[in-house]
Amino acid sequence: AGKITFTMIKPDAVKNGHIGAILADINQAGFKILAMKYTKLSAEKAGEFYEVHKERPFYGELVDFMSSGPIVAAVLEKENAVEDFRKLIGATNPAEAEEGTIRAKFATSIGENAVHGADSDDNAEREASFHFAQTEIYR
Ligand code: CMP
Repeated sequence: AGKITFTMIKPDAVKNGHIGAILADINQAGFKILAMKYTKLSAEKAGEFYEVHKERPFYGELVDFMSSGPIVAAVLEKENAVEDFRKLIGATNPAEAEEGTIRAKFATSIGENAVHGADSDDNAEREASFHFAQTEIYR
């Protein structure tokens, strides 16, 4: 079980004023913040980040949305980080997310779903390196 995961608080949740509540839930669940940045992705950077979804019908919409406003990017540490974080955020579609999960509480739709969570240890490392220099990650 990996010790880090990567997350983004997405433009919808930032716009709707949920940064503080989401960070409180993350801390409450026992995650330690190793790196954090308030930033905005260019369409080019968003496209690169979501390259694995390039052939999906929602890729254009996803890239437009993720570059539509500022986000919070963070690297989080916990035992079993990837799996435990995915439990904390709930299903991709907020209509299917379990009660009490971050997406159940704060997401708007399957696209505007408040937070991102890495889906594997390898992707967590890749995504953390995409957003942060190793010297910015306080392990
Ligand atoms: P995320 O976990 O950040 O990674 C891929 C994203 O694609 C996912 O969250 C959703 O926000 C988005 N996504 C997945 N399915 C759809 C869909 N059917 N329509 C729009 N966006 C989607």
